[in-house]
Amino acid sequence: MWSRAPLLVLPLLSSHATAHTFIWGVFVNGVDQGLFTGIRAPPYNAAPNAGGYANSPVKNLSSLDLRCNVMGDIQAPDTIKVSPGDNLTFDWHHDYRNDSDDIIASSHHGPSIVYLSPDPPGENTFVKIWEEGLYESNPFPQPGKWSTTGDIREKHGKMNVRVPAGLKAGFYLIRAEMIAFHEGEVAYTKNPRRGTQFYPNCVQIEVVGDGTVELPEGVSFPGAYKEEDPGIVYDIYCSTETRTIPTAPCTTTYPIPGPTVWSGAWAETTAVPLSPIKGDTTAYPWSTWIVNSVVTSGSFTDRKHVTVVGTSTYKASWSTTYQTPAPGTRRW
Ligand SMILES: *[C@@H]1O[C@H](CO)[C@@H](O)[C@H](O)[C@H]1NC(C)=O
Ligand SMILES: *[C@@H]1O[C@H](CO)[C@@H](O)[C@H](O)[C@H]1NC(C)=O
Ligand SMILES: *[C@@H]1O[C@H](CO)[C@@H](O)[C@H](O)[C@H]1NC(C)=O
Repeated sequence: MWSRAPLLVLPLLSSHATAHTFIWGVFVNGVDQGLFTGIRAPPYNAAPNAGGYANSPVKNLSSLDLRCNVMGDIQAPDTIKVSPGDNLTFDWHHDYRNDSDDIIASSHHGPSIVYLSPDPPGENTFVKIWEEGLYESNPFPQPGKWSTTGDIREKHGKMNVRVPAGLKAGFYLIRAEMIAFHEGEVAYTKNPRRGTQFYPNCVQIEVVGDGTVELPEGVSFPGAYKEEDPGIVYDIYCSTETRTIPTAPCTTTYPIPGPTVWSGAWAETTAVPLSPIKGDTTAYPWSTWIVNSVVTSGSFTDRKHVTVVGTSTYKASWSTTYQTPAPGTRRW
């Protein structure tokens, strides 16, 4: 297993980013907890010469990466304290954490889904607490409205969920994801260059109080999604204006994958007023990156030239018991 070696951060590099969407911050009842606080943000996982922050989607439904993204087993150094009934707002961004950001590419139509699990997760522990899919369907060729490119993008990346009423105190992981179908009309196993793109992100929370409600049985990640499930391989272009000749059959309904939303959750959430954000609005470039489980550390001389310091193979290792996160610096 790759150990948490100290990582060199090179903040002087340009932050020209090739990032995909991920969660940059969490607001609790409208109060920002700070850049990446409690968030297991995905690591830099592109080739080393991009010079900015980059993360790629997860496409392999059998991979552990589908749980909390690449290196999702590595804890954030801090945990967000919440109470049952608290309103949480996840702040998804692409290149930087402000309102100029495009959040997610306009082609990346798809649903958004949020699950809650005890931390650490195990077999069948992820319980769906919120979902939003194709929320406005129009006859072809008029575009429908999708959660990722409609609602979440229009709200500048804000995704609202609520801590279930009466939830028992303890440590939990929230798994929030956006799913993008721009290449999702064919299964990844049939064409690895395409396939549905998953952007899962996990947030560490500690629920406090004297709640007594336990989570019901849920689903596993990986495991919950199968290629043949409705809503996993899906031709988005029937619901958007971007294709002139629809393929048959062209459906304008969309079944959101996974189980139904738990009856104990707040399926309807509302936006709460938000405080200004705390901390930086840009993610630092990495001096460590991971591609196909190979972790490489290096030092950059400029964007395109890097001196490799060392490499190792990374294998995710999820604990079966709760571990208090080690305080310290973030992973990048
Ligand atoms: C998908 O992930 C599984 C489990 O890690 C692995 O065995 C398989 O080789 C992966 N498939 C591809 C195409 O990478
Ligand atoms: C969460 O939002 C709901 C709906 O706006 C509101 O009624 C409730 O008081 C909020 N909860 C907290 C803890 O602020
Ligand atoms: C957002 O941040 C980017 C990068 O630092 C900057 O170019 C842009 O002007 C900022 N936009 C706003 C509205 O602050």
